[in-house]
Amino acid sequence: MTIMIGNRNAVPTEEVFPELTRDVIDRMSNAKSARLREIMEVVIRHLHAIVRESKITQGEWSQAIDFLTRAGKMCSENRQELILLSDILGVSMLVDAVDNVAGPGISDSTVLGPFYAGHQRELAQGDSILLREEASEPLVMSGHVTDPDGRPVAGALIEVWQTAPNQLYDVQDNDQPQGHLRASFRTDMAGTYRFRTIMPVSYPIPDDGPAGQLLAAMGRHPFRPAHIHFMISAPGYRTLVTHLFLDGDEFLESDAVFGVKPSLVVRPELKEATNTVEYNFGLARELRTEETRSPSFVAGNNRISSS
Ligand code: BEZ
Ligand code: FE
Repeated sequence: MTIMIGNRNAVPTEEVFPELTRDVIDRMSNAKSARLREIMEVVIRHLHAIVRESKITQGEWSQAIDFLTRAGKMCSENRQELILLSDILGVSMLVDAVDNVAGPGISDSTVLGPFYAGHQRELAQGDSILLREEASEPLVMSGHVTDPDGRPVAGALIEVWQTAPNQLYDVQDNDQPQGHLRASFRTDMAGTYRFRTIMPVSYPIPDDGPAGQLLAAMGRHPFRPAHIHFMISAPGYRTLVTHLFLDGDEFLESDAVFGVKPSLVVRPELKEATNTVEYNFGLARELRTEETRSPSFVAGNNRISSS
């Protein structure tokens, strides 16, 4: 492919204005962080490659800027459009794959999503995470948290959250009591956890903003298969962010955010007439320092999830 630039001869698209890319990269020689410079070099190379390869027009670039502006303006305490964008484009799952360790005795992780609402009330083993009655089938979840060698992890914090049967999280729905269908638990000396909830349902991710418009334009649906979120943390271990999905859900193969992994799909068993899932979570040992876990490149990005 060749294009004409000004009065220059026709040049292959991939060679358009290469000195600009070099110049933008070279001007980072005084960058304050070597890691920032390393990442920004790749970002600049790939962004410039997108413009060259797709031959982006001025009109298309304005549309892209407008799209990002609208996505940014949509963000609030209760709405994170940029996380949604990262999720529907598979970026969140790619970061998960690149950054998380896997191996024997270690559970698979998946996306955090935008509906983690910080540390919730701590309940006792066996308690219910509901704050109001729901006309849904009950579900009892239990199991163990173990280290990579299968030894129990006592005192692990297990945070869980899920939608109500109306397909909304409490933070999306003023009619639900805040904290409904979310709670935290501690494992006992045997690493055991146990709580009562209801069967989760599949639901659409928020699709009334730019991320939803993009999904529709790409010819995709916004649904996630039924799941319960888990975040499990304990000193000396990597925090495990994951879900358990229900077997048989019609969206398991086409999750809008690509979060399903086979090891995370469970089939409830009827025990004493109650749906029951037993699932053991294996935590990876934390080998990294705090510094490498959350490097701070730019002022203002120090906030990790509230807890
Ligand atoms: C969620 O499961 O809560 C979720 C994940 C990604 C995008 C939207 C919602
Ligand atoms: Fe969810």
